[in-house]
Amino acid sequence: MAWKTLFSLLVLSCGAAAQIDYSHYVNPFIGSEGPIPGQAFGGGDIFVGGAVPFGVIKVGIDTYEANRSISTLNGGYTPNGNVTAISMLHESGTGGFPKYGIIPQMPLTTVDATVNILDNRTYWQARVGNDTARVGYFKTQLANGVAVELSGARHAGIMQYSFPSGEKHVLVDVSHYLPSENGGYSIQNYQGGEINIAENGSTYTGYGTYGGGWNEGAPFTVYFCGEFETAPDQAQAFHGRNTDPVSRYHTYGDEPIPQATLGGKKRAAGPLNDRVGALFSWNSGDASEIRSRVGISFISTEKACSFKDSEIASWNLNDTVSASVEEWNKDVFSKIRVNTDETANQTNLVLLYSSLYFMHLMPSDRTGENPLWQSDEPYWDDFYTLWDTFRNTISLYHLIQPEAYEGQIRSLIDIWRYEGYMPDGRSGNYNGLVQGGSNADNVLADAYVKGLRGGINWTDGYAAMVKNAEVLPYNTFSLDDLTGSVKEGRGALYDWLELGYISVDRSGRCISRTVEYALNDFALSQVAKGESPGDVQKYLSRSAGWQFSWDHSVQSVNTTPIFKGFLTPKFSNGTFNSSGYNPALCGECEWSAISYEATPFEYSFVIPHDAQTLIEFMGGPSEFESRLDYIFLPSTSQQNLGANGVGIDTIMNIGNEPDFATPYLYNYINKQWKSVQRSRTLANRYFHNAPYGVPGNSDAGALNSWLIWQMLGIYPIVTQPIYLLESPWFSDINITINRNCTLRITATGLSEESYYVQSVKINEQNWNRNWFEHEDVMVEGGTIEFVLGGNASIWETGEVPPSPGHVELGRVGNDTMRK
Ligand SMILES: *[C@@H]1O[C@H](CO)[C@@H](O)[C@H](O)[C@H]1NC(C)=O
Ligand SMILES: *[C@@H]1O[C@H](CO)[C@@H](O)[C@H](O)[C@H]1NC(C)=O
Ligand SMILES: *[C@@H]1O[C@H](CO)[C@@H](O)[C@H](O)[C@H]1NC(C)=O
Ligand SMILES: *[C@@H]1O[C@H](CO)[C@@H](O)[C@H](O)[C@H]1NC(C)=O
Ligand SMILES: *[C@@H]1O[C@H](CO)[C@@H](O)[C@H](O)[C@H]1NC(C)=O
Ligand SMILES: *[C@@H]1O[C@H](CO)[C@@H](O)[C@H](O)[C@H]1NC(C)=O
Ligand SMILES: *[C@@H]1O[C@H](CO)[C@@H](O)[C@H](O)[C@H]1NC(C)=O
Ligand SMILES: *[C@@H]1O[C@H](CO)[C@@H](O)[C@H](O)[C@H]1NC(C)=O
Ligand SMILES: *[C@@H]1O[C@H](CO)[C@@H](O)[C@H](O)[C@H]1NC(C)=O
Ligand SMILES: *[C@@H]1O[C@H](CO)[C@@H](O)[C@H](O)[C@H]1NC(C)=O
Ligand SMILES: *[C@@H]1O[C@H](CO)[C@@H](O)[C@H](O)[C@H]1NC(C)=O
Ligand SMILES: *[C@@H]1O[C@H](CO)[C@@H](O)[C@H](O)[C@H]1NC(C)=O
Repeated sequence: MAWKTLFSLLVLSCGAAAQIDYSHYVNPFIGSEGPIPGQAFGGGDIFVGGAVPFGVIKVGIDTYEANRSISTLNGGYTPNGNVTAISMLHESGTGGFPKYGIIPQMPLTTVDATVNILDNRTYWQARVGNDTARVGYFKTQLANGVAVELSGARHAGIMQYSFPSGEKHVLVDVSHYLPSENGGYSIQNYQGGEINIAENGSTYTGYGTYGGGWNEGAPFTVYFCGEFETAPDQAQAFHGRNTDPVSRYHTYGDEPIPQATLGGKKRAAGPLNDRVGALFSWNSGDASEIRSRVGISFISTEKACSFKDSEIASWNLNDTVSASVEEWNKDVFSKIRVNTDETANQTNLVLLYSSLYFMHLMPSDRTGENPLWQSDEPYWDDFYTLWDTFRNTISLYHLIQPEAYEGQIRSLIDIWRYEGYMPDGRSGNYNGLVQGGSNADNVLADAYVKGLRGGINWTDGYAAMVKNAEVLPYNTFSLDDLTGSVKEGRGALYDWLELGYISVDRSGRCISRTVEYALNDFALSQVAKGESPGDVQKYLSRSAGWQFSWDHSVQSVNTTPIFKGFLTPKFSNGTFNSSGYNPALCGECEWSAISYEATPFEYSFVIPHDAQTLIEFMGGPSEFESRLDYIFLPSTSQQNLGANGVGIDTIMNIGNEPDFATPYLYNYINKQWKSVQRSRTLANRYFHNAPYGVPGNSDAGALNSWLIWQMLGIYPIVTQPIYLLESPWFSDINITINRNCTLRITATGLSEESYYVQSVKINEQNWNRNWFEHEDVMVEGGTIEFVLGGNASIWETGEVPPSPGHVELGRVGNDTMRK
């Protein structure tokens, strides 16, 4: 009997899943718009176009918005911007300055005297009607009459241009990249390239080199190989002087954009960094379709051509679309299965599968495409950024994408091997920018404590973490912050090692970096348990550094009631700088402010490794609870966070990452129903099946993965093998975890008014704690059964979630040496 039970449990938990087409629940426009209709500003900054999960290619339109004061072009796509090109490489969800928007084509119906092919303002196109987008497919109608349809494979894209009768041209401008409309320090730049057109005019190859962008990246080179199904009647290369402002490079300073010189089949940028490209023209006057496929590679034009040929073997666009849909269903959507019949809430299906889509657009799996060093390890790029994704995105990859996730970690470690540091942000094969701590530490620790081993060399992984914790990276003297490196590592380590906190007089972002360095050191202590036990106490002790920055006497300003005890700027001589201090404000809230993209009021809740001390510092459970209650009240925000807090008037800002775990903190005082109520209210208020459907930049899917956890009814505590129990949005969820096992989450009594937990069973055992451990259900699968009801209930009687980083300073011994 016992054997039979075990057997049936295994059958239930581990096995293959059936295939359903979930892709039509995806709305690829969620996040394409902000609060101002028709404008991307304050929205998700998402990419819209053709892509496969973790693909290298993200093929879509690049646009330019007339109103520069509120333009955001980061994903290339904007709802109403004029189309400047269709290009191959994009980021999704990022803020700050754009990156990529390179390797373009642009269909034109005239190249007469009004058009200067070096000046996109003379040929850019408004769009007519509404765009269409589905998984793997995008269509837009240009004002010049050309309909553009496209799809993407892993390293190649396919475009279909339906031209009206008349002239037909396709422009390829190798010097094209997504600009920053207002200029500025971190603009991208073109640093040269080459184009060669084959004798028959049908194919072209070459490369472009680009630098800069938000991550202050070094130049990187992309090779391309394009082909037209129908041979053009004319194919002419061109070049022209570069007038883009590029410091430390040759440009034709302060001149109007010159005309291009057309002719020949081959052009190179040459020593004056000329812009290069090609113009392809067809003579037939009839309306017709021109199809093109373009492969790219970071290694060679030969590889780019072979990707084009092997990944897009058919000129039928639908074949690439179908292959993409199949891959998304198989590798992504089918990992989380809910009831999709007519009784299902269709909106929630869209929110679930769209969120899964957006959290798999980045990072990019560039295995085999690393131009920088030879290695057998996987290679990934576009970690943009771990500051966003360490909080819960990576924990979901761990469950549903164990292979990809292991590859990402191996790649992070390999970057340390060959470049000296793991990245926090990375794109264009270059580390940068670090917004707070060295958060790859958190990613590695989260994987380690949950038992991920596979092909990861953890000796090296821990060594890479120790590098972050012990070795100050060289100062990159970024204009963002002149005090220390923003490229990698921990730029304010000089403070952290000497003082145990980040000082306000020597370093920017003293509050937020103190909080993040503390968690980073906790992450080291977690991995040290297995890899270097002698280090555990040291890093645990350092992880309490946030306590040095806690001023127990500081009070909140302009709040009712008044709260006492906050993270507070502290000078390097040990004195707090609390005169006139209002923890609800952070000034410009960026690089040189006291805290980054959130106020000290918010960061004062972000101590996931030691909630116990935090609650004590805030005055005990009931004071903690009333402070939490307060931050959800309307009109409590005193700080304008700009694009990082558009439309949010509470101190609690679900639109930005630092506060992601804050709504769930009620679990730590056994008032789980309040976590459920608060987090669900945020989700319902700010996440929608609409263009303005996420509250701010989706940040490589970080906002989307927050919503997925919310819908699953659980929330991971990063760097710990712990999940909080919340309340699911579906009555039956099967999740494929750990490659081929199933976690089944069920909920009886669920309705729109009935979502408070009454009781929980895990693996058929009654559960009296509002949290569980990874090994309970996440290794071999299992079941979580919720009973829900309309009345808030304090159902949990067991221990509160753990505080494994609990340190009482003064008893550690070593803190006395610090100021
Ligand atoms: C699950 O995967 C593991 C490891 O790949 C394999 O050993 C096992 O046989 C698989 N189980 C089933 C039921 O497919
Ligand atoms: C598109 O370009 C036209 C012509 O240059 C311009 O008038 C219009 O404002 C642009 N539209 C947008 C949304 O930028
Ligand atoms: C540009 O956007 C700003 C902010 O919404 C608005 O105040 C201004 O009127 C807009 N300018 C134009 C020319 O539409
Ligand atoms: C475009 O979409 C909007 C909003 O969904 C809708 O109101 C409008 O009718 C659509 N226009 C066309 C031409 O389909
Ligand atoms: C288009 O033209 C504008 C104005 O000259 C320029 O700033 C921008 O860099 C060009 N390229 C793109 C892709 O918009
Ligand atoms: C054109 O030439 C290229 C390179 O030689 C070749 O790969 C391609 O098949 C040719 N295309 C046509 C339509 O002949
Ligand atoms: C491509 O698919 C669409 C939608 O499924 C269909 O309408 C169209 O006919 C297909 N085109 C080709 C060339 O197969
Ligand atoms: C979840 O899996 C169980 C066991 O295989 C099955 O009975 C149930 O129908 C599945 N539910 C969904 C929504 O897929
Ligand atoms: C579906 O769920 C949403 C919450 O995401 C809710 O607002 C909506 O009313 C529900 N629709 C139906 C038909 O129950
Ligand atoms: C880990 O890498 C180091 C060198 O980087 C090597 O000495 C060691 O053997 C590797 N460990 C394993 C288990 O492969
Ligand atoms: C510490 O430095 C600050 C800023 O220079 C100064 O105002 C304060 O008096 C100093 N405190 C001590 C104890 O020296
Ligand atoms: C304090 O820490 C240092 C290095 O972190 C260590 O060498 C020393 O033994 C510690 N002292 C005490 C009293 O724990």
